[in-house]
Amino acid sequence: MTNTLTIRRPDDWHLHFRDGEVMRGVVPYTARQFARAIVMPNLTPPVTTTELAAAYRERILAAVPEGVDFTPLMTCYLTDATDPDDLARGANEGVFTAAKLYPANATTNSASGVTNVETIYPVLERMEAEGIVLCIHGEVTDADIDVFDREAEFIERHLRAIVANFPKLKVVFEHITTSDAVEFVKASGPNVAATITPQHLHINRNAMLVGGIQPHNYCLPVAKRETHRLALRAAATSGSAKFFLGTDSAPHLRGDKESACGCAGIFGAPYALESYVTVFDQEGALEHFEGFASLHGPAFYGLPVNESSVTLERAEVQVPAELDLAGSTIVPWHGGQTIGWRFVG
Ligand code: NCD
Ligand code: ZN
Repeated sequence: MTNTLTIRRPDDWHLHFRDGEVMRGVVPYTARQFARAIVMPNLTPPVTTTELAAAYRERILAAVPEGVDFTPLMTCYLTDATDPDDLARGANEGVFTAAKLYPANATTNSASGVTNVETIYPVLERMEAEGIVLCIHGEVTDADIDVFDREAEFIERHLRAIVANFPKLKVVFEHITTSDAVEFVKASGPNVAATITPQHLHINRNAMLVGGIQPHNYCLPVAKRETHRLALRAAATSGSAKFFLGTDSAPHLRGDKESACGCAGIFGAPYALESYVTVFDQEGALEHFEGFASLHGPAFYGLPVNESSVTLERAEVQVPAELDLAGSTIVPWHGGQTIGWRFVG
């Protein structure tokens, strides 16, 4: 039995840091485990220009603890009015690593998102030409589409067309939650990949709705039925380079989750690697963990792999039921549970 696992230092390819005091509180958790992270741009106001992203990157860097090596990789929040020249300039200057497509009103702070994907086809054309990665929140938002069907519907209505119209565009289907998404990504060419969160590997929708409503298991896209969770576990642990780590760690303070209108998002950063490695262990696939966590993401983004390493060991770890954050408290993913792996460093 493998009791210790040492892998190249991983990166988090989908992460929310927020801003201000919350950002300063959460950055150390990610910087402790990961060398780089794709930072989502859904602030208020959103990070829509090179100038805003460069300033946000400075604020993040100022929050990285002394002596810790961590690089935030910035994304541009696409709107109906995105300027392709500014996006290309930001990418060429090394400010933007990717751009994020939020369908308007799909999730937290997405009101300025894209109202009709075809509106931004000129931007996608430019991204394809410049080699800028497109990260997609793949859910339709139409009121007549059931929330559990919104990801599958997005594939049929929009994603097939995007991939067909821009065959060289690098597309990351973010935080996939369905077997439909797994099948779509597997059937697409090498420039289509997906991130998978720890929560969608651990829970199905019962965890949100059985035994009382469980706001800390609520995120978007929502967890689906068990067959989908099993498809995600098979994909993540398969060794396929099309699937890689993206926590979608999305901090919301306890009071904003435990509310009559609770926010979507799970704060996965503090025990992210412990959570993922548990899944690979349960699936008998520890040999594929380094690929998923540390190799497939850089290969897709065309970035070097990290030279340093991290070690995880089999040990019982009690995850705190809550953590202090920004003068308040927040519930981490696995809060109050015991997990079987420890992050050594
Ligand atoms: C994210 C957030 O809170 O910013 N929430 C979530 O449930 N995942 C936004 C997102 O990625 O959808
Ligand atoms: Zn997200």
